Amino acid sequence: MKSIIVSIAVAAGLTFAGSSMSADMPPLAKKNGCTNCHSIDKKVVGPAWKDVAEKYEHDAGAADRLSAKIAKGGSGVWGAVPMPPQSKASEADIKELVAFILGLKK
Ligand code: HEC
Repeated sequence: MKSIIVSIAVAAGLTFAGSSMSADMPPLAKKNGCTNCHSIDKKVVGPAWKDVAEKYEHDAGAADRLSAKIAKGGSGVWGAVPMPPQSKASEADIKELVAFILGLKK
């Protein structure tokens, strides 16, 4: 009996861990419309943000370059589809989003 209770608890724990792992986009990403084209771990129109984090893992200048690119838009790194300039996103929001993106790990 005791083992049944333990296994139920373990199963419930795994379910909980599983759902918290399919990470949600932060509210700031929703507010600025990034979620229309990006998700954490799947390519949508733009690359998965986890892939972005991995690509720039050892790139000390990445934060500045990515911030500039988000503000001005650009293409050619992940494919031919361009990211339009995110002109509605404030500089502070972009900085925080870039920090969030680069902090993601597989
Ligand atoms: C209309 C669709 C769209 C929206 C909205 C959008 N993106 Fe993108 N994003 C893209 C595409 C497409 C790329 C790939 C560009 C490339 O290949 O150079 C991209 C690339 C990126 C990259 C990687 C750039 C690189 O040079 O490696 C980051 C970081 C990023 N987006 C962040 C954001 C953030 C933050 C927002 C919200 C403020 C946002 N994106 C909104 C489509 C979008």
